[in-house]
Amino acid sequence: MRHLIDITDLSVQEVDELIATAEDIIQDPAKYAEVCRHKKLATLFFEPSTRTRLSFEAAMLDLGGSTLGFSEAQSSSAAKGETVGDTVRVVGGYADIIAMRHPKEGAPLAATQVSTVPVINAGDGGHNHPTQTLTDLLTIHKERGSLSGFTIGCCGDLKFGRTVHSLVNALSRYSGIRFVFISPPELKIPLYLKENTIEPNGLPYAETESLEDAMPDLDILYMTRVQRERFFNEADYLRLRDTYILDPAKLAAAKLDMRILHPLPRVNEITVDVDKDPRAAYFRQAVYGKFIRMALIMKLLEVQP
Ligand code: NCD
Repeated sequence: MRHLIDITDLSVQEVDELIATAEDIIQDPAKYAEVCRHKKLATLFFEPSTRTRLSFEAAMLDLGGSTLGFSEAQSSSAAKGETVGDTVRVVGGYADIIAMRHPKEGAPLAATQVSTVPVINAGDGGHNHPTQTLTDLLTIHKERGSLSGFTIGCCGDLKFGRTVHSLVNALSRYSGIRFVFISPPELKIPLYLKENTIEPNGLPYAETESLEDAMPDLDILYMTRVQRERFFNEADYLRLRDTYILDPAKLAAAKLDMRILHPLPRVNEITVDVDKDPRAAYFRQAVYGKFIRMALIMKLLEVQP
């Protein structure tokens, strides 16, 4: 039985195969409409979500399966003190596969130790978010035709932003990738990612506080929200939240074929008048999220069209 907790649980070949399957689903959705008939997906979300939970549910419905679950810890027995392990053990008796989001780093990994069905990490605290990364990779592949040879700017909250952590782990396995990490000093990329992933892979990278300076070099600009819920005090959040605001004036210095990605939700970091720029890929990215999750569910349930 396979789980997806960390993006590197999948080999590069498996990631490429998931992208190819997602692209095939986009071309011919009817071929996949019944493959998960009588299968059930449980979404156990102990933390807020719009896209991740609903795209998982839409993915399972579009595969002909069905869904059950909860969208806040307060409406589950977690509110009575039940452990994650017990919840997962029980839900495995009702569903064929589980997607779990939890505020504690490592909770989905702990769930795999007792689960009788595949568990997918749908975001664990400030740690990882592998299915957002699959979404991001499909988006880059669809928009730019490749996953190699790009300069990727990651901008915003690189400390608590779990989507950036998983994206760095994934892209560091492709050739010709260069990162530019754009953040205030307080929200820099964690040291463990530099020591365990970036440096051992010999990846060139730069760190800067200036989005303007980085802009002309970038092929992909990955904007992120300052993760308010991970801050220890509100004053720090308020001080840092508007450090970067992407607007049309800043975009004027960008390459014409650059693409702007954002896992969403957006707060202030991209102005709405950027949305109509053809380089703004974030709403298309949200749509791609459903298709790659369809491919992933099929893989973990070992079903084929
Ligand atoms: C991200 C998350 O939850 O980590 N959103 C998402 O899953 N699409 C990013 C965020 O919340 O800022």
